Amino acid sequence: MSDKLIIFDTTLRDGEQSPGASMTKDEKIRIARQLERLKVDVIEAGFASSSNGDFETIHAISGIIKDATVCSLARANDRDISRAAEALKPAASSRLHIFLATSPLHMEKKLRMTPDEVYEQARRSIRFARNLTDNIEFSPEDGYRSDMDFLCKVLEAVIAEGATTINFPDTVGCGVPELYGHAIKTLRERIPNSDKAIWSVHCHNDLGMAVANSLAGVKIGGARQVECTINGLGERAGNTSLEEIVMAVKTRKDYFGLEVGIDTAQIVPSSRLVSQITGFLVQPNKAVVGANAFAHASGIHQDGVLKARDTYEIMRAEDVGWANNKIVLGKLSGRNAFKQRLQELGITLESEAEINAAFSRFKELADQKAEIFDEDIIAIVGNEPAEHDAEEFRFVSLAQNSATGERPHARVVFSMGGKEVTGEADGNGPVDATLNAIESKVVSGAEQLLYSVNAITTGTQAQGEVTVRLSKAGRIVNGVGTDPDIVAASAKAYLAALNKLDDKSFKLNPQAI
Ligand code: KIV
Ligand code: ZN
Repeated sequence: MSDKLIIFDTTLRDGEQSPGASMTKDEKIRIARQLERLKVDVIEAGFASSSNGDFETIHAISGIIKDATVCSLARANDRDISRAAEALKPAASSRLHIFLATSPLHMEKKLRMTPDEVYEQARRSIRFARNLTDNIEFSPEDGYRSDMDFLCKVLEAVIAEGATTINFPDTVGCGVPELYGHAIKTLRERIPNSDKAIWSVHCHNDLGMAVANSLAGVKIGGARQVECTINGLGERAGNTSLEEIVMAVKTRKDYFGLEVGIDTAQIVPSSRLVSQITGFLVQPNKAVVGANAFAHASGIHQDGVLKARDTYEIMRAEDVGWANNKIVLGKLSGRNAFKQRLQELGITLESEAEINAAFSRFKELADQKAEIFDEDIIAIVGNEPAEHDAEEFRFVSLAQNSATGERPHARVVFSMGGKEVTGEADGNGPVDATLNAIESKVVSGAEQLLYSVNAITTGTQAQGEVTVRLSKAGRIVNGVGTDPDIVAASAKAYLAALNKLDDKSFKLNPQAI
């Protein structure tokens, strides 16, 4: 059996199914590029038939990514499969990922199909897909709660039809490591042609065991592909966290004996990018990528680490991409220095016009803030709309006053459909007044689901990064805004969220469909 563990990243598909994590095409392309730098083996770029937006995004990513296999999800029917194959056409290497539920509950209540019908449809779908590609993954959805005999029958048939990867999803996250691992082992032992496919794990984190279950699937079950997401993003409580899987396998190579192709120094930049784009903050005590993951607070631990690092550290912070906050640029830095730093950070901007726009944002920031860190540059680029993005709303300026005992008042100037407008309003606090001022002109009627502020670097001179989550008519969107002034950052975040609500190509949240 191979000792290579395939890392299949599904941040752009399963990860996007987190309520509020919907991303624009441009945001997904940025993440896909970062996943390529991270050297994941497979990028699941979306679900082509779920919306035109997803189709176009998969098509665009397929044309850009060269070093990873690009994959689209598809239901087990001809239309979905053809659409996915069409979206993947430009890819250097592509995969169709076909799924069909096999648990008694899903077959009866959701699909309203008999087991025989499901068996036939699974076979037929792979036969159809086989005409389009020879890289086919099949997932029996809710596989972990399916009947073992039935699962063996279906999986044997789909392998015979040409499926090359068999994924075993714990769709509802009810698995227990030992049982999940043994279920894969049993499947591989009982299915006569099981050696013709690579076995894969796909675990949800409803009981906090997604990583443990996936690793058991690898160790006990012999799976050689792990499906996972950056920061464990995914439906409900999330999916399996890529960074934890990779570092577990690398750090405990003595136990797992497997190789992964990941460039671990890109883990923290990937985590930051996904967090910044989705607005899903990483909890400080999150393994590997949390702010405290390498912080030693107790005196005994600090003393130990100073004497010998491995007394309390099993991984090196720099190996997963943690860099000390470095002052990289300042007010006097020129365009070339800025461009070079972008290159060093692995950031590719599509055109000179985009570089110019980002550079002028950098200059504005350098006027407000003496020291510019890598994190600031990443935020500048992250929040700069792509050249082709026609934005309905754009922040121009803000004035607000608040004093103890007085009701805060804000005046916000922004462009709306190309025309500059000024909104004014009071509020419970300066942020509330600012958002009310915008809303007085836009009248979106959107419901605010979340407001959060995070400091991009340390200290009170840091830029604030604000996330606003809005919901309207089945769409849940996040807007992110950064600025040294958190009230201005709030206005930018609110306008960014309104832009997404306004973009009708943005698909409905899966929970609302
Ligand atoms: O959780 C799940 O079952 C899935 C499948 C589509 C693989 O995401
Ligand atoms: Zn899933």
